[in-house]
Amino acid sequence: MDGNGRWASKKGMPRSYGHKVGVERVEESIRVASNCGIRALTFYAFSTENWKRPQPEIELLFQLLRHQVKKKSLELKEKNVRVRFIGSRDRLSPQMIKSINHIENLTISCNGLCLNIAMDYGGRDEIVRIVKRIANDISVGKLKVDEVSETSLDFFSDLSHCGPPDLIIRTGGEKRLSNFLLWHSAYSELSFLDTMWPDFTSEKLFEQVNLFTKKIRKYGSLDLTDVG
Ligand code: FPP
Repeated sequence: MDGNGRWASKKGMPRSYGHKVGVERVEESIRVASNCGIRALTFYAFSTENWKRPQPEIELLFQLLRHQVKKKSLELKEKNVRVRFIGSRDRLSPQMIKSINHIENLTISCNGLCLNIAMDYGGRDEIVRIVKRIANDISVGKLKVDEVSETSLDFFSDLSHCGPPDLIIRTGGEKRLSNFLLWHSAYSELSFLDTMWPDFTSEKLFEQVNLFTKKIRKYGSLDLTDVG
């Protein structure tokens, strides 16, 4: 969801305005995803590196998230959306953790769209957390070193419930992952857009989904229609 700050500055508005309009695009994307059969949707809301931002901006982002959770919980449950927060919880405030627990518990029996919100999330941090869990299982004799496999890493990962993303869209003009889903993105299709996040409307999401459906994915194999 990159580009909120630049979008607002270009309009002569504070960065906070960009984040507020950004939230509207989040709502719109969730609507599109749950109506068009997308199985899982993950938003990179706050990275392990975002703690380096000025304190007022950090507070605003957390406040927006808590406000959204409060405002949207029941609607998400009614829409059968299962909400999960991924990332580390060690540095989150007790109020934030309370909001997370509230929405996760409320939607626990929903089996429609799986909505992941990455909060204090970093791909490298996730890999460290996975390694620690595996090391712990080995140390208590639950797992043997020889049994460690890609499946074990998947099992202990933050996306064990939904698998890797088919498509990763980054708005805002930069062409990098910035520590997003490093383990899971091995075969994801990547789409880097110059559109700033507050301009990423449902039409643009549809367009991206449409382009994605035309891709032939070989996963290192051959495109069978090309084999002569
Ligand atoms: C990137 O824009 C955006 C973020 C770091 C935060 C996005 C978070 C929200 C909109 C909060 C709500 C989220 C949910 C899931 C309800 P930027 O600030 O890096 O923009 P810039 O690159 O133009 O400075």
